[in-house]
Amino acid sequence: MAKFPENFLWGGATSAAQIEGGRCEDGKGLSHLDYVYFRGPKIPCNFMLTENLRKARAEEATLNFPNRRGIDFYHRYREDIALLAEMGFKSFRMSISWTRLFPTGREEKPCPEGVEFYHNVFRELHAHGIEPLVTMIHYELPIGFVEEFNGWESPEIIPYCVKYLKFLIDEYKDEVKYWLTFNEINMVTAVPWLGGGILLDKDEELELPKGFRPFGPLPKKMEERWNQVSHQALHHQFIASALVVKYAHDTAPGCFVGNMYNLHHLYPETPSPQDALRAHEETEFNMFFCDVMAQGSYPKWILSYYRKHGIHINFVKDYEKILAEGKVDFISLSYYLSSVVTADPARQERVGSFIRRLQNPYLETSDFGWQIDPTALRISLNELRDRFHLPIYIVENGIGAFETLGEDKTVHDDYRIAYLRSHIEAIGEAIEDGVDVIGYTPWGCIDLVSCSLVSMSKRYGFVYVDADDEGNGTYDRYRKDSFYWYKKVIASNGEDLE
Ligand code: BG6
Repeated sequence: MAKFPENFLWGGATSAAQIEGGRCEDGKGLSHLDYVYFRGPKIPCNFMLTENLRKARAEEATLNFPNRRGIDFYHRYREDIALLAEMGFKSFRMSISWTRLFPTGREEKPCPEGVEFYHNVFRELHAHGIEPLVTMIHYELPIGFVEEFNGWESPEIIPYCVKYLKFLIDEYKDEVKYWLTFNEINMVTAVPWLGGGILLDKDEELELPKGFRPFGPLPKKMEERWNQVSHQALHHQFIASALVVKYAHDTAPGCFVGNMYNLHHLYPETPSPQDALRAHEETEFNMFFCDVMAQGSYPKWILSYYRKHGIHINFVKDYEKILAEGKVDFISLSYYLSSVVTADPARQERVGSFIRRLQNPYLETSDFGWQIDPTALRISLNELRDRFHLPIYIVENGIGAFETLGEDKTVHDDYRIAYLRSHIEAIGEAIEDGVDVIGYTPWGCIDLVSCSLVSMSKRYGFVYVDADDEGNGTYDRYRKDSFYWYKKVIASNGEDLE
């Protein structure tokens, strides 16, 4: 087994919306994720249309909003951090909630209780020798910005966001060394509501066929609108990100700022040149998000892609300079599954929660239909090394499963151990291949609210949280079998995976 570097950052990952709870406490405002309501443990949230937000607003008293409860980390962070420390964590990925600091996003001064909460969390982490890895924006934006600006579609959001991001650097730079700007920045094009707070039908009437589902082929008008709005929004996020990267470099030497994108390895379905070309194009498309943030410019091909697809980007003044000056220090990524590409647009099936491609007949699948493929991670890590020559931080990976607490007050999650073992092996092999992987923080180290399903039923943790989809339960924490296994992995620096 390959040796992981001595200072390898073993840890785990979370996000504010999915763990904190206390969503209306101490002056906190609500974000767009606080309006996503539970519809069933296997039904992905679909919030692309205004009517859904209208419903959430109108039925606020009766709908179930699991993100508002999280797992009560807001009150239990000391207990939780002690559990992470017991596993030997070196690194803890968390995000800061924009609306806990600036409730509507427009305040001149931040909310003091919110500012103090994150200081307390960082102090607690450092007291246990755990390095925080902080995502500045893990999807969330103030709900008012959805309603006024249609989220990231409008450039008007940029100054408010940059003010918030610069505040984070100024306030926390002595406690936080590793930062990520936008979580899974490619999600704004894949799921515009989630990644950008964008309603696709804002200001225009889109005629949707009866029984419309987001996973089938899209109506033409919606496809066009989707492309246009999401790439414009992405441009605004690139700008905000680059501005804060430069600011961090100028004012907080010693900080490392990374991008964060959802890595999705693709295989052509057949050796036909058409399938291969399609897979190549989609891979390039996925890499483009890193190209802009790591190389500091838009690749030429995406500009001709925009022309071909009638996408017109209103580039922000001086954008080339801004991007060139705001290149990230490392690449970070989430990785869960791979999928298969066909050149035939009519043959699409649901892959993961939101993607339209094909399942791979050679792979096993989780309870939630996500296919398990550690080899693709190794391949992709090698590709990223060749393209960017930057350190790589794997900041999400894991398997979501239905689980219940046994009478012995634990969960025997051997499937999770098997999943993580195979992925750690693949990372070790990539390190032997010469990839500079600096850390690994599996997702949902403590059970948390699923993002795509807004449910507690999909669990990723080493620690079980006694809470259900309706918020019933004690919220007490219990160590699963994987807890003890991961502790051994960390103690042996990745040598002991048994
Ligand atoms: C990533 C997100 O896409 O996947 C996380 O950054 C999310 O927020 C994770 O929770 C797993 O997805 P899900 O839908 O299973 O929670």
